[in-house]
Amino acid sequence: MRKTAAEAAATAAEAATTAELAPGVVIPLIGLGTWPMTGEAAADAVARAIANGYRHIDTAENYGNEEAVGEGIRRSGIARGNLFLTTKFNRQWHGITGVRDAFTTAAYSPLGRGGSFLSASAVTGPAGEYGKTPAQVVLRWHVQSGRVAIPKSADDRRQRENLDVFGFSLTGAEMAAIDALETGAPPRLDSDEFGH
Ligand SMILES: NC(=O)c1ccc[n+]([C@@H]2O[C@H](COP(=O)([O-])OP(=O)(O)OC[C@H]3O[C@@H](n4cnc5c(N)ncnc54)[C@H](OP(=O)(O)O)[C@@H]3O)[C@@H](O)[C@H]2O)c1
Repeated sequence: MRKTAAEAAATAAEAATTAELAPGVVIPLIGLGTWPMTGEAAADAVARAIANGYRHIDTAENYGNEEAVGEGIRRSGIARGNLFLTTKFNRQWHGITGVRDAFTTAAYSPLGRGGSFLSASAVTGPAGEYGKTPAQVVLRWHVQSGRVAIPKSADDRRQRENLDVFGFSLTGAEMAAIDALETGAPPRLDSDEFGH
């Protein structure tokens, strides 16, 4: 059956792996989180992730791993222009000068740090139905909600798993069921207080 133009546009939006922040500035919706890795562990995870297809890496001055992330990027051999790199300056450097008019929401700790969130039935139900892992369902929920997600993994298989969330989509009811897991707990870290 032929799709209508609206259905085709919706399908294309669901399959999108990137978002456009501003003309010519494109961010991959899944990035590699690098905290709390430092030194060789961080360099190795970054080089591995790039080999696994990641094109977005998240670091911060406060993580103490910017040099190691840079080393991982060098080792990967990728041209810098092909990579979206996010860093965050500590609070003492904050100011309005240089802030660009391009915003999106990025979910840190997007897997709830591998905790009980992944065993909620709202997550495991769709995982069973679509033959995906709970982590893939949760990451799919993030990107389908219009958020960038930066799961951390040092493991080769889990890195590939976390990037592979674009071949399926959740129904509106499944999305709503995961939304309903909201506990009302305050943010784990308030960036205005925490420092970046
Ligand atoms: N700006 C901030 O204030 C802030 C705060 C916290 C985090 N962050 C950023 O967000 C990133 C991610 O946050 P996070 O590390 O706290 O938590 P997370 O990404 O939600 O969870 C990471 C944990 O989940 C495990 N994991 C990864 N993939 C998995 C999978 N497919 N199935 C099951 N378990 C899996 C990882 O273990 P393995 O490594 O063994 O796979 C690790 O123990 C950080 O690395 C950092 O870049 C920013």
